[in-house]
Amino acid sequence: MDGYSDSAYRRVCKTVNPKIVTYTEFTSADGIHHNASRVLTKLRFHPDEQPVIAQIFGKNTETFIKAAKICEELGFSGIDLNMGCPAKNVVQSEHGVALRKNHDLAFRLIESVARNTNLPVSVKTRLGWCDSSDLIPFCTGAENAGANMICIHARTYTEPYQVAPQFEPVYEMKRHVSIPVVGNGGINSLQQGHDILHNLDGFLIGQATFGNPWVFSEQSSPTLKNKLDLIFKHAEWMIDDKGEKKGTQEIRKHLLAYVKGYPQAKAIRSELCHVQSLENIKEILLRFSENIDT
Ligand SMILES: Cc1cc2nc3c(=O)[nH]c(=O)nc-3n(C[C@H](O)[C@H](O)[C@H](O)COP(=O)(O)O)c2cc1C
Repeated sequence: MDGYSDSAYRRVCKTVNPKIVTYTEFTSADGIHHNASRVLTKLRFHPDEQPVIAQIFGKNTETFIKAAKICEELGFSGIDLNMGCPAKNVVQSEHGVALRKNHDLAFRLIESVARNTNLPVSVKTRLGWCDSSDLIPFCTGAENAGANMICIHARTYTEPYQVAPQFEPVYEMKRHVSIPVVGNGGINSLQQGHDILHNLDGFLIGQATFGNPWVFSEQSSPTLKNKLDLIFKHAEWMIDDKGEKKGTQEIRKHLLAYVKGYPQAKAIRSELCHVQSLENIKEILLRFSENIDT
């Protein structure tokens, strides 16, 4: 997830439950192709994360092929093609979910990647543009083009996050393909994920992990004091990967998410927004946790 699922956060989630599979943030195939170092930095991962999937986006078969080859060389376990992102700049560039308006190009991209890498290739998309009428032809076409798995965020492009996800069209689509289908959207616990499964092969959890990677735990959620070691590891890994300045800037939103919901959190929010070092983070959160038993 863009802005979230960097290496440090993926390691945090894998620490909670080593059985999960994680994805990189979506990464521009054009950027990888041009070897832009900032883009390649996004694709760094730690061996403990395996199996980890690189997610790429774009609309150009040449850059998709080059990006796929680079992902393979980097040692990823799979390549996911983003055909679901609704962000304005992404859609205006005819990337992401815009490919649902151009099936032929989408299938050419899938085929190019599938033919030029030995890695499994998956596609992440949505129900459709404003309804799910093309979901079955799109997914059967993706399978025929060489996709090995499809993940459906069970909302259309035009539906905001507040709209409840609709899994019925996904169950129906699964009857028409023979590759694994993974469901996504609004899943807030492992139990809820199992409840929506029906004939699907798995589920993805996104936003419910923010501040709560323990959503992946098969045990009940730990107390704040017992969460601290992992939160500190998160900050440490982030700083190791990105340096103290960028690392402490980027950990701030995670720290706010970690304390969200605790009634006393308001008092430390502004401190968390200004953390400058790992020691600083430890001092604030140890002090905060002293008065919290849950
Ligand atoms: C901040 C944010 C960043 C996201 N970035 C990506 C991304 O890079 N690639 C992707 O496939 N989906 C991305 N998504 C969509 C999620 O993967 C997921 O499909 C969506 O949030 C619905 O699932 P959820 O309710 O479990 O979060 C993003 C969503 C959010 C809120």
